[in-house]
Amino acid sequence: MRSPITVAVVALALLAVASPWTMTGVEAVRGLPKSSNVLRNAGRSGPSQTLDRCDACRKAVREISTRMTDTAGKNFGGGNTAWEQSRFSAWATSEVRLVEVMDSICSDKMEFSCRQFLDDHEEHVEKWFYHHQSEPMDRWLCSETSRVCCEHGHVGPQCKPCPGGPTNICNGKGECKGMGSVDGSGECKCRDPYKGRDCTQCKPGHFRRVLNDNPDQPRVECVKCDPSCKACTGEGRQACKSCAQGFYNTTEAGCMECDPACQSCTDAGPSSCIACSEGYAKDPVNCADVDECATKAHSCRTDQICVNTPGSFHCDCPTGEQDLNDACVPTIQPEADASDFDVSELSVDDDDAAEAQPEVAPHSEL
Ligand SMILES: *[C@@H]1O[C@H](CO)[C@@H](O)[C@H](O)[C@H]1NC(C)=O
Repeated sequence: MRSPITVAVVALALLAVASPWTMTGVEAVRGLPKSSNVLRNAGRSGPSQTLDRCDACRKAVREISTRMTDTAGKNFGGGNTAWEQSRFSAWATSEVRLVEVMDSICSDKMEFSCRQFLDDHEEHVEKWFYHHQSEPMDRWLCSETSRVCCEHGHVGPQCKPCPGGPTNICNGKGECKGMGSVDGSGECKCRDPYKGRDCTQCKPGHFRRVLNDNPDQPRVECVKCDPSCKACTGEGRQACKSCAQGFYNTTEAGCMECDPACQSCTDAGPSSCIACSEGYAKDPVNCADVDECATKAHSCRTDQICVNTPGSFHCDCPTGEQDLNDACVPTIQPEADASDFDVSELSVDDDDAAEAQPEVAPHSEL
């Protein structure tokens, strides 16, 4: 029967075997015959941020490249004898170096996808390291062997062109989701006001203008309708398909603006309103201005004078006064410097104000 201590020792030994990259290079290599999957068990540290497989490959490539640079001159004194040269080239593709390059690579908790990629494609990484170091790793590893990345403008499991084709991706008006990756959906995410599978349709309030003569891959521009139109077929108020709110249809001139009294209308003039504008009310015939001052519907202060306007009103101070800090105060004479005045001095009445002014200058020099 095994003692608990034996079990613990065996468990620890198993743990050590399960994570070779945490051992020193020599220890790790001793247990690994050449051409074994030295990247196995490179550490699955649990779920985290998920990159698509192409981004994960590119990340792995960046990390490997850095380590390759870091380990390039190791065990090499810099001499140029034949012996040193051959020692250098042996090092370049040595397993010890590979172990060092891969040691705790993509080990950050956030780099699970990178880790996953290395687990899935370890034989490609090894093949590149031993036989293809002269080839650009990004292309060799991500596109040609593991096939997780697609060429520019291509996307999805079969690396098909993005909608609109590689030269007119999403009509140039949107983003091809996941472009360059086998994991990308390749759907267009269109910018306003474009819509549709390849962003060649226009949202309401715009008309569509085709800029090329390729019906299979049209290049389309969406142009805003005239403000008088709700929908249109082209430029100007005569190209309206329907009129915007506040406009009415005329056969000759297109959509025309309603009377200011109308929010919507069937024809010109305040008698053609369907609904009245704010500040107007329906009398038997017309939408007529509401006199907010007379109906006391205004919000002027008691020291202000209410002035009615078409559709609205405003609040003024009496003549000779101005609004200062929410109060009407006598207007300062232009020859006096306003900055010398304290507001409290302005409470004197008009007759005294004229006499008081000469005293202001000496007072202000204090
Ligand atoms: C305006 O009225 C004419 C005649 O009824 C109609 O043919 C046209 O479609 C209308 N236009 C709009 C923008 O409603």
